[in-house]
Amino acid sequence: LADNSDLELRQLEPGDKVTGLSVGDPAFLPLKTFFRKHAKTYEAQSLARTYVVCEPAEHDKPIAFITLVCGEIETQGDTNLLGDGVTYRYHGYPAVKLARLAVDARRRSAGLGRLLVEFALGLVKEVICPAVGCRFMVVDSKRESVAFYESCGFTMLDTGENRARDEPVMFIDLHKIQV
Ligand SMILES: CC(C)(COP(=O)(O)OP(=O)(O)OC[C@H]1O[C@@H](n2cnc3c(N)ncnc32)[C@H](O)[C@@H]1OP(=O)(O)O)[C@@H](O)C(=O)NCCC(=O)NCCS
Repeated sequence: LADNSDLELRQLEPGDKVTGLSVGDPAFLPLKTFFRKHAKTYEAQSLARTYVVCEPAEHDKPIAFITLVCGEIETQGDTNLLGDGVTYRYHGYPAVKLARLAVDARRRSAGLGRLLVEFALGLVKEVICPAVGCRFMVVDSKRESVAFYESCGFTMLDTGENRARDEPVMFIDLHKIQV
């Protein structure tokens, strides 16, 4: 794996150049559009928080980003859906949602996706969980990215309906990770 120790990982800033991210496959264009058109606005309006990775030489030109928002895991009344004694009598388990994640197509398979997910998990576990009830991180995973999220520790929500979805729900129990 590449050595990513010199990379900058920080919150999106108003002066960042958000137009140059290459997402490769046209199916991923909505991610590029989100980053280019909406990420800064949502940041200013506190509707989403986006974190970026930049190289030191181009510190205002992100090469990867992750966006987090409040979310939940719908249980549809199944109080033991997540197993392991996590029983909860409400219809949605509190979670942080990993809403967007993209690594520039020219920089993939170098650990940047994992770096951003691990950063997000650490942030939520250390900053959000002690202050607000929140037990999980959840993502609507693109089919192509299921193996990536599994390698980051996420599990597919175990219902037939979910497995059949175009973007199945995957989650990680924040009590089960070390940060
Ligand atoms: C999915 C994505 C974010 C992964 O980022 P990345 O920087 O290329 O991934 P990493 O290098 O951090 O890979 C981490 C691990 O996941 C694995 N992995 C990455 N992409 C994978 C894929 N498509 N299929 C299977 N495994 C994959 C890697 O092998 C690696 O495993 P290892 O650490 O055991 O070797 C990136 O490919 C991307 O931006 N894709 C397009 C947009 C997208 O799908 N976003 C997610 C939306 S839900």
